[in-house]
Amino acid sequence: MTTISASAPGKFVILGEHAVVYGKPALALAIDMRFSIRVSRSNSYKVNGQAATPYNMSPHMRYISDKIGTSPVSIYVDGRVPSGSGLGSSAALSNAYAAAISALEGLPTDKETIARLAYEAEYASQGRGSPMDTSASANGYGIALNVPYKEEDFLWHIEKEDNAWDISKIDVPKMTFVIGNTGIKAATGPLVEKVRKYRESNTFAAGIVDEIGDVTLDGLEAMKNNDLEELGALMTYDHKLLSILGVSCNELNHMVEAAIPYSYGAKLTGSGGGGCMVALTDRPEKVAKAIRAHGGTPYVIHTGVKGVTVKTKEHSDHRRGGRKRSKSNPSEDEED
Ligand code: MEV
Repeated sequence: MTTISASAPGKFVILGEHAVVYGKPALALAIDMRFSIRVSRSNSYKVNGQAATPYNMSPHMRYISDKIGTSPVSIYVDGRVPSGSGLGSSAALSNAYAAAISALEGLPTDKETIARLAYEAEYASQGRGSPMDTSASANGYGIALNVPYKEEDFLWHIEKEDNAWDISKIDVPKMTFVIGNTGIKAATGPLVEKVRKYRESNTFAAGIVDEIGDVTLDGLEAMKNNDLEELGALMTYDHKLLSILGVSCNELNHMVEAAIPYSYGAKLTGSGGGGCMVALTDRPEKVAKAIRAHGGTPYVIHTGVKGVTVKTKEHSDHRRGGRKRSKSNPSEDEED
């Protein structure tokens, strides 16, 4: 019997969320919280030992199963990316599941193929959105969208309707971030829709979206120069722009304000409406304490996190003295 194990990380956005949906620049980093998935062939669909129903199988997983046309599988999911919190949990789940099912069906599992399939699953499930979360999770480390890049840093190009994204890798200097989770779950789709309506009906809002794109380019420059003061100031400014677009909330604003005295800067991260904020700091304990004091859950973030990984295990029949074999090919089980 063949068992495939795959895993993929969540992400957070340093700068550029919402504006990236319209093809503007954005910067995102993979985080050391992952979804791990194990799949093997079965007579019927099962998730963590239970018969699969619309409640325990996400629309992303259903989309990927239909798209690949796989036969029923038994799926074990071990999740460590909080859902509805702006940390890319559905992108991580989609990448891990896409990689696992592709490997089971003998299809390619390179990062670009998985990033594209996971983006299609996200797009089909959540409506509008950019390929930022799925690409950050598939590639790992740090990515930029729609910024000037060196040829060797180019990863892939994705188009959807009127928008296009050039996705490249970025060098990420050593930085410490603290993420603060409000614990308020907010789905991405309705927040993206809210910004879309505002931007389409109001030239002032369209200007704010453009300004977020400009701030992101400045932030990339600051990151290249290792200028954390400047990068932090741009993050705080970006939070104000996102608040004007209507995607912040009181809890996020309070946690951002509480983190700022101990940080280079802080902002909401992801789609907003609840979910998480992030602070760039060299005093993570102080920031974590401030976040806790405002009812949030802090996570100190380590960068340099690898993207999607896949491992295939062949089990022969143990009762007949068979042996277990583990296969790792270069596109699978990438331990870079
Ligand atoms: C969600 O992490 C980021 C948004 O920009 C939506 C997207 O890019 O798909 C709000």
